[in-house]
Amino acid sequence: VRVQRKIAVVGTGYVGLTTGACLAAIGHHVVCADIDAGKVSRLRAGQVDILEPGLAELVRRGLDAGRLEFVVGAPAAIHTDTEVLFLCVPTPMGADGSADLRAVESVLREVGDLLPEDCAVATKSTVPVGTADRLSRMVNAPIVANPEFLREGSAVDDFLHPDRIVVGSSDRPAARRVGALYEPLQAPTLILDAASAEMVKYAANCFLAVKLSYVNAIAQLCDRVGADVVAVTEGMGYDPRIGRSFLKPGPGWGGSCLPKDANALVHVAESVGLEFPLLRSAIEQNARQQADVLDRVRQACDGTIRGARIGLLGLAFKAGTNDLRDSPAVRIADALVAEGAEVTAHDPAISGELSGIRLVDDPYEAVKGAVVVIVLTEWPEFRTLDWTRVAELMDGFTVLDTRNLLDGDPLTRAGLTWRGMGRPVTS
Ligand code: UDX
Repeated sequence: VRVQRKIAVVGTGYVGLTTGACLAAIGHHVVCADIDAGKVSRLRAGQVDILEPGLAELVRRGLDAGRLEFVVGAPAAIHTDTEVLFLCVPTPMGADGSADLRAVESVLREVGDLLPEDCAVATKSTVPVGTADRLSRMVNAPIVANPEFLREGSAVDDFLHPDRIVVGSSDRPAARRVGALYEPLQAPTLILDAASAEMVKYAANCFLAVKLSYVNAIAQLCDRVGADVVAVTEGMGYDPRIGRSFLKPGPGWGGSCLPKDANALVHVAESVGLEFPLLRSAIEQNARQQADVLDRVRQACDGTIRGARIGLLGLAFKAGTNDLRDSPAVRIADALVAEGAEVTAHDPAISGELSGIRLVDDPYEAVKGAVVVIVLTEWPEFRTLDWTRVAELMDGFTVLDTRNLLDGDPLTRAGLTWRGMGRPVTS
């Protein structure tokens, strides 16, 4: 028999909304709170601002079934029978690289006295190691670290089919209670101490960042020795210790998690007197990767970017999202603008205004008059562009494919030069 739990979720951003809607979908009763009254009323009407496959549908189903509610302000989400409160508010990177916990702490101050006895507080936001203990001193409730491992663009699917559930607390029964919420998902569940649970998230995300920096460095090396990184990574991926996934070079890793977590873990290490040069150098390599893309643009513009018209295909930090947070594409666009380029960009998921660059709804409009076209996000629709038409519209002939997304043949047939990352150039 499935036990329905009463859950409060504070913060209806990307993590909070996915958590709330998915917990409602597996049978719990969930009240989600946000301080943005406009957002709350949109959510009550079933309108979801975030582009995340399946999320809007789950929100509407939860509302219809009466298992999902949206309220303004954290206190309104707490009832006498609330069993678990999830904290899903932002923990942005502060100026020194450490995570800024002010939002988490301010919610706890607001609701601390309202929490019923035995209500556990679960932290979903990535928080520095030691946060659970620090928060325990603020409220009279068990704090449970319960990191999420959701990828943008497949968050609902990741939530409903998790590789593992991690919960950690010095109060093991409380950790077990939080872990039990996920029972319908039948995933391996690790009940840990709080610091280990908090550490799992950092260790996993930073491993991924290091893996990508490594692959990006290998791609640069392939370029210089005339090897093809696609073949090289395929050959590596057969080894199960390496695995096939997360081996694609690109314009650098970005998004709301990897850069923030990498910087935060360096900071955590420093705070206990360790340097972590490996992770630092993965972060440096990521900056170098962007500098390398800019060098390629410079070469394609005969040395100078100033005054050059450049067309960008893709701005989101990866395909399947409209998220621009810490997007390498945006950083590259900004650097080009700073060097005096005239930048026009198209992204199938993004419209509106962006400072410094011209954003257009049509990919052909983005390449018009461009000396160089740069593919920065791996949107599949870019593969099937009419390259003859692109060649006619462009002023130059170089297409820099930082995602190794395109098939070079149709481009070269159209008279274009295709340059991938770590792949032989074809023209
Ligand atoms: C990531 C983690 O995967 C997820 O487990 C965690 O909870 C949050 O952070 P997300 O930020 O959605 O998820 O992005 P992800 O798909 O992991 O990609 C991160 C970055 O790496 C993107 O910039 C992406 O383009 C880049 N990437 C990924 C590559 O360059 N090559 C790859 O092979 C994979």
